[in-house]
Amino acid sequence: MEAHDIDGQLTEMLLSEEDIHAKLAELARVIEIDYADKNVLLVGVLKGAVMVMADLVRELRIHANMDWMAVSSYGSGTQSSGVVRILKDLDTDVTGRHVLIVEDIIDSGLTLSWLQSNLVTRGAASVEICALLRKPDAAKVAVDVKYLGFDIPNQFVVGYGLDYAEKYRNLRGVGILAPHVYS
Ligand code: XMP
Ligand code: MG
Repeated sequence: MEAHDIDGQLTEMLLSEEDIHAKLAELARVIEIDYADKNVLLVGVLKGAVMVMADLVRELRIHANMDWMAVSSYGSGTQSSGVVRILKDLDTDVTGRHVLIVEDIIDSGLTLSWLQSNLVTRGAASVEICALLRKPDAAKVAVDVKYLGFDIPNQFVVGYGLDYAEKYRNLRGVGILAPHVYS
């Protein structure tokens, strides 16, 4: 199905639902080998990663547990501040677990680098990252992302879980939001 717009505020569609599903299937083939005997714990970051998690986990032909965290970077608008606050913590004790963080997007990298070290500190056996999108030109800290979907331009994108002011998460694909909407 063609990725749909909602209100004509997308300047460009970057990825269709088919593009995303094909890439997640590709990543799943690698993940299921890497975690064949590890009972992986997928940790999704709410709310943006909901769609990535739902599609990725159904591609995996191995046992995979799921849990969720909600974090917020202090700051407003479209900029991450690097000061991270846990809004909802895991239900699972990660001690000794092989954790794979599932994220929608790496922008500055501040959120994920904080989260990765937070989970390492709790005693996880391993903490790797799977992210659908990355903006290489926005990086402030290096994030070692083991399973990456797509590198995208440094523009604000929405859809497939990604929002602006809680809107557009339900778009099937990912598109660039017209800058006049948020500036
Ligand atoms: P950092 O900068 O910490 O940011 O890597 C990660 C979080 O910021 C949000 N984010 C976006 N959300 N379109 C969005 O809808 C974007 O282009 C975008 N860039 C960053 C997102 O919540 C991500 O987890
Ligand atoms: Mg997010």
